[in-house]
Amino acid sequence: MNMDVAEKILFTEDDIKTMCKKLGRQLTADYQDKNPIFVCTLKGGFMFFADLVKEVKCNLSVEYIKASSYIGAETSGNVDIKEIVEFPVQGKDIVLVEDIVDTGLTAQKLISYFLKKGANSVEMVAMLDKKERRRVSIVPKYIGFSIPDYFVIGYGLDYNEKYRNLPFIGIMNLKYIEN
Ligand code: IMP
Repeated sequence: MNMDVAEKILFTEDDIKTMCKKLGRQLTADYQDKNPIFVCTLKGGFMFFADLVKEVKCNLSVEYIKASSYIGAETSGNVDIKEIVEFPVQGKDIVLVEDIVDTGLTAQKLISYFLKKGANSVEMVAMLDKKERRRVSIVPKYIGFSIPDYFVIGYGLDYNEKYRNLPFIGIMNLKYIEN
């Protein structure tokens, strides 16, 4: 991997872990005695999800869904949702964990998906929030960091399936955009 693939590091692993502790305290207070289901949105959410759930000090279960909407660095607007292993949702309190909320289309589809299945509540945790790019009025209740309109990679976030393993979040160097 080219070492300059991220032109600037925005958040280090330490920054992210500190942020997870803060969100974890809020979630612990809000979900005590509710036995929530924490739903990891794949693929991008996996690294943040693992850090976050360690900081939530109440009983919870974990599930995984796959939401795909992106091709390259532009959103396609179509969101496809798949449960990795089907799980009952009726009457449950769902906490959706997303890598990044960009246009908000994925978040909107996911929230209505779980409400239609009879969830008691659906809230969203976003590691990153790119408010400027929003096309629908979705405001995640729990936000790690807000960022301007940068295309970012690392800590689960990819460009054409690459760079998810970088242990930080960085702005992608545009010279590596493939045509
Ligand atoms: P949305 O539906 O436009 O909000 O897009 C959400 C999904 O697009 C995220 O879950 C990411 O997988 C992807 N995405 C949005 N912005 C970025 C980015 O800057 N880097 C990598 N993936 C991104």
